Amino acid sequence: MIPLTVAEITAAVGGTLHASDPATVAAAVVDGPVEYDSRKVAPGGLFVAFAGAKVDAHDFAAKAVADGAVAVLGSRPVEGVPTIVVEDPLTAVGRLARAVLARLDGLTVVAVTGSSGKTSTKDLITALLRTAGPTVATTASENNELGTPYTVLKVAADTRFLVLEMGSRGVGHLRYLCDIAPPDVSVVVNVGVAHIAEFGSVEGTALAKGELVEALRPAGLAVLNADDPRVAAMAARTTATVVLAGESALSDFRATDVVGLDRGRFGFTLHVPGGDAVPVRLDAAGRHQVGNALLAAAVASHAGVDPAGIAATLGDLEGLSTRRMDVFDRADDVTVIDDSYNANPASMAAALRALTAVAGGRRMIAVLGFMAELGEYERTGHEEVGRLAAELGVDRLVAVGEQAAPILHGASVVASWGGDPVLVTDQEAAVALLRDELRPRDVVLVKGSRYRTWDIADALREGLK
Ligand SMILES: Nc1ncnc2c1ncn2[C@@H]1O[C@H](COP(=O)(O)OP(=O)(O)OP(=O)(O)O)[C@@H](O)[C@H]1O
Ligand SMILES: [Mg+2]
Repeated sequence: MIPLTVAEITAAVGGTLHASDPATVAAAVVDGPVEYDSRKVAPGGLFVAFAGAKVDAHDFAAKAVADGAVAVLGSRPVEGVPTIVVEDPLTAVGRLARAVLARLDGLTVVAVTGSSGKTSTKDLITALLRTAGPTVATTASENNELGTPYTVLKVAADTRFLVLEMGSRGVGHLRYLCDIAPPDVSVVVNVGVAHIAEFGSVEGTALAKGELVEALRPAGLAVLNADDPRVAAMAARTTATVVLAGESALSDFRATDVVGLDRGRFGFTLHVPGGDAVPVRLDAAGRHQVGNALLAAAVASHAGVDPAGIAATLGDLEGLSTRRMDVFDRADDVTVIDDSYNANPASMAAALRALTAVAGGRRMIAVLGFMAELGEYERTGHEEVGRLAAELGVDRLVAVGEQAAPILHGASVVASWGGDPVLVTDQEAAVALLRDELRPRDVVLVKGSRYRTWDIADALREGLK
């Protein structure tokens, strides 16, 4: 964190300082990391103690200070430990993040939301902005009311770009996150049925996601997916400058001549307003990454990266988040697409299309788990995925767990499909089946909602021992 005294932090969060020697503690400077996991505490840092149902982190407050934390931010005083006491530490961390940002000039805050592809797009934006200046970004998917301030608090005095993935499960969520970190650039990837159980409807989702552009000041920039009508329509919800990115002719940042390359990757011609068109060979698997890359290109261009620089970085990507379109070859010549991080119908469709692109005629095996949080759309959502898998000609369709069975029902309605469906009880059974059936040159996609399929991808990575 940027250096702040304990007194400044106490004032920023509206807390009360409890310490045996308050004057000395108040003047002490916090310049280390802000952590809520006591194992991560480092010298000069601040430890945030949450009192959870199972663990009360105040029990670790003394250890955190012994490990070098200057003070603790908690909901009650701890004997012998300098503690800034607030009613709610979560709200307090948000306030602290807001105060830190208010002290920094010359920092551009980029916020990214959408139903699918937030992390993927955030990773592409981060890779591009790193070429323009010191950049801090959300790690993995830490996109909620804790992850957002946690990421903000990693900013240093020389940070030029802060890229924040922002998740939303209902009206008001993004507004809350944008109060903590008011965006200069708001990026909306798409509006789909992810988390629809909480939103109620796709329209409800669009309403909530649009809060990201409503939070922009007039001098800000909205970067909107031109190919998603619900996203493009968000242009009307801000007075900030709007740029559209996509393949439609309306787009300011546009891809034409999209062609499949090796390993499920795609190439295209990138058009930017007022600049030269450049060829891009996108170093990420899946057709859906083209749209993500266009959004990222718009953000990078705003930050001054020229088209050639954008093309160079997009052509050689490193450090993308794990379990997302991670294509790897095993020693036995089987190719695996680990896209097991999470799943909803749109991302399943994207991944199945990527499977066909990677396979390029090789035998395709899709190991698909349950998609969570679809509410009343659950049955149809699974059936649609199965139908698409069949239409794309997946050879072996493995549904993992009884809840994923509707995937197979969906596939069975495609009369022309000659593939082979199977329902397995759980992840272990899926691994056993793959152990028996995999042959050299097979291409396997593994995807489902989080922990429900992770173990299968890991077993494939480890060689199905
Ligand atoms: N633009 C896109 N359209 C549809 N699917 C996409 C898109 N980009 C990525 N995906 C798919 O969505 C899945 C999730 O991607 P990613 O982790 O980037 O999304 P997310 O929005 O961050 O998800 P979460 O809500 O879990 O944080 C990926 O596995 C990928 O297959
Ligand atoms: Mg994410």
